[in-house]
Amino acid sequence: MSLEREARLLLMAPSHRREGLLDVLKEVGAVREADTPARVRAFARQERPDLVVLHLDADPECLALCAELDQSYGVRVLVVGREAGVEALRAAMQAGARDYLADPVPPGELRSAVARLAQVERRVRRGHVITVFGTKGGVGKSTLAANLAVVLADRHHQRVALCDLDLEFGCAATLFGLRPTATIVDVCRHPGAMTLGTIGEALSHSDHSEVDILAGPPTPDLAAFVDGEGKRDPERNYVQEILRTLRTAYDWVIVDTAVDFGEGVITALDEAERILFVTTPDIPALQNSAKGLDILLERLGYPQEKLSVVLNRGNAAMGLMEDEIAQALSHPIRHMLPSDGDVAVRAANIGMPLVLLRGRSPLARAVGRLGGELVHDLERPRVSGLSGEA
Ligand SMILES: Nc1ncnc2c1ncn2[C@@H]1O[C@H](COP(=O)(O)OP(=O)(O)O)[C@@H](O)[C@H]1O
Ligand SMILES: [Mg+2]
Repeated sequence: MSLEREARLLLMAPSHRREGLLDVLKEVGAVREADTPARVRAFARQERPDLVVLHLDADPECLALCAELDQSYGVRVLVVGREAGVEALRAAMQAGARDYLADPVPPGELRSAVARLAQVERRVRRGHVITVFGTKGGVGKSTLAANLAVVLADRHHQRVALCDLDLEFGCAATLFGLRPTATIVDVCRHPGAMTLGTIGEALSHSDHSEVDILAGPPTPDLAAFVDGEGKRDPERNYVQEILRTLRTAYDWVIVDTAVDFGEGVITALDEAERILFVTTPDIPALQNSAKGLDILLERLGYPQEKLSVVLNRGNAAMGLMEDEIAQALSHPIRHMLPSDGDVAVRAANIGMPLVLLRGRSPLARAVGRLGGELVHDLERPRVSGLSGEA
């Protein structure tokens, strides 16, 4: 399978030019249209297009919108307008446009400008690595990782890879009902440089979701090929190479982990933009998690903001209050997921993520909220004060 994806383009043009411009843009990638600045903004936020093409006749506020897309959303804009002079070019460039083309623009010129600009943006694209971790087994790391991946891919229409770094007993593929023929082991044993192509061949896909899954080793002994004695080249950090490569093609890379501080997991923690630290509200888990959090903060030196504590099965607190739990952890609880063994275990047994099987259950909704908050937090406009929600 190829990970090269089509460029995502967005066009806002006056009705008489829409057809003509659309035809050319379609030759370069998948095109969506917007007829108001508000729609352009909404699309820019949700879909992160590679390039927005704005025709100045579409709206009197086009240049202001261009500046906003550039500065607040980090989205590239190509401006098209009727004026041919230097003044028009300068005005567009000052508004943050990457290029300005005078209309009627020759199709060939438009095509190559769009291809060039959309391409550049794709090369610098950097997805978010989210590592789901915890220092106790059975707290719900894999359940959260799999379902979060589905929420981001299927509800937020993001490109999502789920990477199973529970190298001995990983179950990410199983949660989707899959029995992979290729796994992370094949990627690490492949000779030569790490490429998207090599990783792409090892990905598994479920019929139920858009998530691409890099499954863990089929048997525990094969873990050594990934981050142990069996590495093809002992000098290389395969996990780092895999995560960094995936980031170039995916909006989100969700990493499931095991309870260990081996090279693979440490790498996934280092590479993460956010660590979701999962625990449950029982004293053994909390004591253990307090030590784990301490290692992350003190020994590994991660900033507080990098860590979000997820209290799974939070409503089964069995007499412990939320603030007592936060106190035991010396860390605030960022997300709470309710206990629902019926939904979680049934979904695991059927081999379909619970957010798909029981989308309306409180547990599925809570995972949905967590995903929404991540999107909100990490996809936030880069410059505040300019976003102007429409
Ligand atoms: N919120 C929840 N409510 C009830 N059961 C859950 C919940 N989250 C996970 N489980 C169940 O707990 C068990 C362990 O979950 P899992 O995600 O495999 O944990 P981990 O990956 O941390 O070892 C599984 O049987 C799973 O279905
Ligand atoms: Mg697990």
